[in-house]
Amino acid sequence: MIIFVAFLCSSYVYLGTAVDTITAARPIRDSETIISKGSVYKLGFFSPGNSSYRYVGIWFNSLSEAYVWVANRNMPIKDSSGVVTIQNGNLVVMDGQNQVLWSSNVSNSVSNASAQLTDAGNLVLKDNESGRILWDSFHEPTDSLLVGMQLTSSKSTGPISRLTPWKNPSDPSPGSFSAGIDPGNIPQAYVWNDNSPYWRSGPWNGQVFVGIPDMYSIYIDGYKLAVDDQSGLVNFSYSALNNVPAYLVLTSKGILERREWNTENKIWEIGFGSQETECDIYGLCGEFGNCNPKKKPICSCVNGFEPKNVSEWNLGNWTGGCVRKRPLECVRINQTGEVTTTDGFLKLRMMKVPDFAERSSVPIETCREQCLNNCSCVAYAYDHGIGCMIWAGGLYDLQTFSSDGEDLYIRLSHLELGEFNATA
Ligand SMILES: *[C@@H]1O[C@H](CO)[C@@H](O)[C@H](O)[C@H]1NC(C)=O
Ligand SMILES: *[C@@H]1O[C@H](CO)[C@@H](O)[C@H](O)[C@H]1NC(C)=O
Ligand SMILES: *[C@@H]1O[C@H](CO)[C@@H](O)[C@H](O)[C@H]1NC(C)=O
Ligand SMILES: *[C@@H]1O[C@H](CO)[C@@H](O)[C@H](O)[C@H]1NC(C)=O
Ligand SMILES: *[C@@H]1O[C@H](CO)[C@@H](O)[C@H](O)[C@H]1NC(C)=O
Ligand SMILES: *[C@@H]1O[C@H](CO)[C@@H](O)[C@H](O)[C@H]1NC(C)=O
Ligand SMILES: *[C@@H]1O[C@H](CO)[C@@H](O)[C@H](O)[C@H]1NC(C)=O
Ligand SMILES: *[C@@H]1O[C@H](CO)[C@@H](O)[C@H](O)[C@H]1NC(C)=O
Ligand SMILES: *[C@@H]1O[C@H](CO)[C@@H](O)[C@H](O)[C@H]1NC(C)=O
Repeated sequence: MIIFVAFLCSSYVYLGTAVDTITAARPIRDSETIISKGSVYKLGFFSPGNSSYRYVGIWFNSLSEAYVWVANRNMPIKDSSGVVTIQNGNLVVMDGQNQVLWSSNVSNSVSNASAQLTDAGNLVLKDNESGRILWDSFHEPTDSLLVGMQLTSSKSTGPISRLTPWKNPSDPSPGSFSAGIDPGNIPQAYVWNDNSPYWRSGPWNGQVFVGIPDMYSIYIDGYKLAVDDQSGLVNFSYSALNNVPAYLVLTSKGILERREWNTENKIWEIGFGSQETECDIYGLCGEFGNCNPKKKPICSCVNGFEPKNVSEWNLGNWTGGCVRKRPLECVRINQTGEVTTTDGFLKLRMMKVPDFAERSSVPIETCREQCLNNCSCVAYAYDHGIGCMIWAGGLYDLQTFSSDGEDLYIRLSHLELGEFNATA
């Protein structure tokens, strides 16, 4: 009996085994799908939200709708005549008139290619003869970062891959936001609106982005950032925890979200969101302005600074920022011929450190001194993963957290320091 049932099951599975590969001889038409071997992901045609247009995408086979990749996001099929096939060694999406609306568009002279959907959610175009990978969807992300994907940046040319959100829930064409890693002096994650920063993670310290409170190491959150000094490539990725389905997505509103599947309630839950408070909007309080979501108003000038334009500031337009009340002495040479200064530092606790940090190789003991002895240095901080960070010029995108964060030391005239709880 058991053997009989097992036989039935296996023959059922065998007969029911869905196809996971598209070839020229076996294209898929609208309403047909391919399903990865372990039934994790599905590729097919769909109409998002209120749209009647047809798009080719990848989604979780048995979880509630989440389109993690879209092929023809800019060129919808207007009816149900679409087909996905292989043409001249490329994966293509065509409409009923055989017009190519989307192509993997890699130059090759392969006569026989096939595209397979893997259980990781990657659509892989291969040369049938050599098995060589010609193209894969993981290297052409839309709005979602799946486990196994990477956001790659080059130290010399900046982001190589970015997430770009849907315009709105009914239109998968790219909106104005994007998300990626800026390798900079110290790698940081950003959401940009067009080319202006909209959100910033703070610097990567080898374990976490220090500007995201409650972020833990790879062992807890699964985030990983690998820097290859030789190629200058920086890869950001993360792994699933306890094999719970999860992915990162950039929403139409420019919010980077980590979504985790709640197996009990069968819904996607938001584990992390890049816009928890208004203070997460990049640079809301301007230069030398500090944002604290627990205060009203949320923006204030750093101690020792005052609004650049008081009337604008008081109307709640803080982007003009703040200016120093009393000038710095900077540095001078004293009678014994040594570099010295009367300036000191104000300590701010639990801070999101400002943008544009420079990394200095000096140890913690000399971080302060290095800053003090350099006229251009306006602040420093020390993180055990990063080392000594110093800032020159303006300080942007400061925030006071209610947990975590860093101690930030801001250079002020000694005349100011008497007034505050300073650590001169
Ligand atoms: C679809 O249209 C209805 C009515 O206009 C609207 O309430 C709903 O939000 C729309 N859904 C999406 C996903 O855009
Ligand atoms: C294909 O690639 C070529 C050259 O890289 C580019 O000019 C062309 O616009 C691309 N076509 C599509 C449909 O992406
Ligand atoms: C592609 O390769 C498979 C097996 O190698 C073969 O059966 C098929 O006919 C080939 N298709 C073309 C168009 O060459
Ligand atoms: C080529 O295609 C055939 C039939 O689709 C398949 O059995 C064979 O494994 C493929 N070869 C490679 C190298 O992918
Ligand atoms: C980053 O990813 C690229 C492409 O996948 C790979 O070639 C490179 O070795 C990776 N670098 C690091 C440091 O992981
Ligand atoms: C402050 O801003 C207002 C409004 O933008 C402007 O009219 C005014 O001239 C500014 N004042 C100064 C001192 O810059
Ligand atoms: C806010 O102030 C800046 C200059 O400080 C000005 O350019 C901008 O237009 C102002 N924004 C609004 C909404 O008034
Ligand atoms: C000169 O500066 C050095 C370093 O700050 C200090 O140790 C020394 O006492 C100063 N000498 C005088 C005469 O102020
Ligand atoms: C002072 O700091 C600036 C900014 O970090 C740096 O470019 C410059 O080289 C430093 N000067 C000295 C003498 O170290």
